[in-house]
Formats: sequence, C-alpha cells, structure tokens
Amino acid sequence: MDNLRRKKIGIFDSGLGGLYVARALRILMPDYDYVYLGDTLNVPYGGRSLEAIYNLSEAAIRFLMEQHDCDLVIIACNTASVTALSKLQQEFLVRNCSDRRILGVIVPTLEAATELGSTQIGLIATEYTVRSKIYDEEIAKISPYAHIFGQPTPLLVPLIEYHGEKYMDQVLKDYLEPLIEKGLDSLILGCTHYIAIKDRVRDITNHRVRVLSQDEIIPPKLRDYLMRHPEMEERLSKNGQFEIYATDVSPSFLKNVEKLMGTDFKPKKADYS
Ligand code: DGL
Repeated sequence: MDNLRRKKIGIFDSGLGGLYVARALRILMPDYDYVYLGDTLNVPYGGRSLEAIYNLSEAAIRFLMEQHDCDLVIIACNTASVTALSKLQQEFLVRNCSDRRILGVIVPTLEAATELGSTQIGLIATEYTVRSKIYDEEIAKISPYAHIFGQPTPLLVPLIEYHGEKYMDQVLKDYLEPLIEKGLDSLILGCTHYIAIKDRVRDITNHRVRVLSQDEIIPPKLRDYLMRHPEMEERLSKNGQFEIYATDVSPSFLKNVEKLMGTDFKPKKADYS
C-alpha cells in the first residue's frame, strides 16, 4: 500500500507569506511531503492584471504538478485564489489532469469563521482581493446571516516587505478603527503577508474582535479534507520532506526563510516560464 504513496502536497504563494501556512501545515501534519513555491520574482501580485495573475498562477501550478509530482496544490495566496482558482479548477484541471486537486484559502477561511459563529466579518486584504467581492459571494453561499465588511489595506504588504515596522501601528489603527466601529465580531486577515502581523492586529484591536489568521485555519481544514478524500490521501507520500523553491532566490528571501524555518532548508531556484 505505502509504495503507492508517491505524490506530494504543493503550496504556492506569490512570495514568502505562504511559508507561514506551510510551516503550520508541517507542524500539524509532519509526515507528508511538501513542496513550497514562492513566485518571488513576480511578487506582489496585488496590482497586476487578472490575465497576468492567472498566467503566473497556471505556470506555478504546472511546475508543482508536472515537475514535482504534486497531486494536491494549495494556493495559499489570496490574490491568486480570488483571480485564478476557479478557472484553474474548471478549465486547467479538467483539460490536463482531472484526478488532481487545487484548493484555495477563501472558502475554508469563511467556513471557519461561520463555524465559530461569526456573522459581522471584517476583511483586510489587497485591493484586488477586496474589490473582487469573492469573499462576499462565497459567504452568501455559506450563511445567509453573515456579512463581509471589506477594507483594502494596500500599505501593509510594502511595510511588511520593506521592514516598515515603526509605521505599522499607526497605519493599522487608521485602517482598523473605522472598520471595527461597524460592529464587527471577527476580522479575516485575507493576505498571506498579514500572518506576520497577526499578534499586532490582536493587540491593536484589543481583542474586541476575533482575528482569523489563515495559518491557524488552513491546516485543520486540510486535515479534514484529507479525511473526507481517501482517494487523495492514499496517494500522498509520507517521508516528512519539505522542499522550498522560489523564482528568485534573493538574499532577503533566504534571510526570511532562515528566520521562519530555521537553517535546515536550502531554497532552490524554480526554473520555468
Ligand atoms: N500573497 C498575496 C495575498 O495573499 C499578497 C501579496 C501580493 O500582492 O502578491 O494576497
């Protein structure tokens, strides 16, 4: 039986942020083999056209599926989940490999929110993610009682990427105070980068709202998915391996990987176009 287990779990993000999700997946399910791909050459995706984000995402998925035997890929990036996921599922997979799966982060995040009883749900995310209204559309399918209050927070990714910590609290306060005043019970951090500042958001909101962070949501949701889908679970190899690829292995990416994951990992360059 075990020698049939040859396939890996791929995790794709536009850059570094998805490593927080990958790290949390490994902590909850350390036996599986993971391949992480950060498209560091093209980050940020947030300001790109729909067509560009789709093409970048499809190329990344091909790399994980065709070069690295990933039968299951998690798109950790909200921006790519919003713009590319449904086309990848409905067209790319159907055409190329209908027994493989691509999962996003939006539906599991909203399911987790409603399971916790949230109804007045704030969302901070890139302009693209908020304006797409996908969170609003998906919540309507899950619960008629829940509402999304979206707030684009475009300054956060550059502040996180370029070490702008000292300005962070002020910017967060300006974004969050008016949003919380709308009567939120929960706040979704709808961008992988924001996992890095979740404690700060919890402090600034003074625990008045439940802060929903995808590194805490996605791992148990994936575990549930695998329990419900033995046809996928039985294919997955279990050697406890974790490989990291990036389209640009820059010194700052290496530094961040070391900070997040320790010194055991040597990120490799992902060559594809
Ligand atoms: N990883 C992206 C997301 O989760 C944010 C960064 C970007 O714009 O590429 O939305």
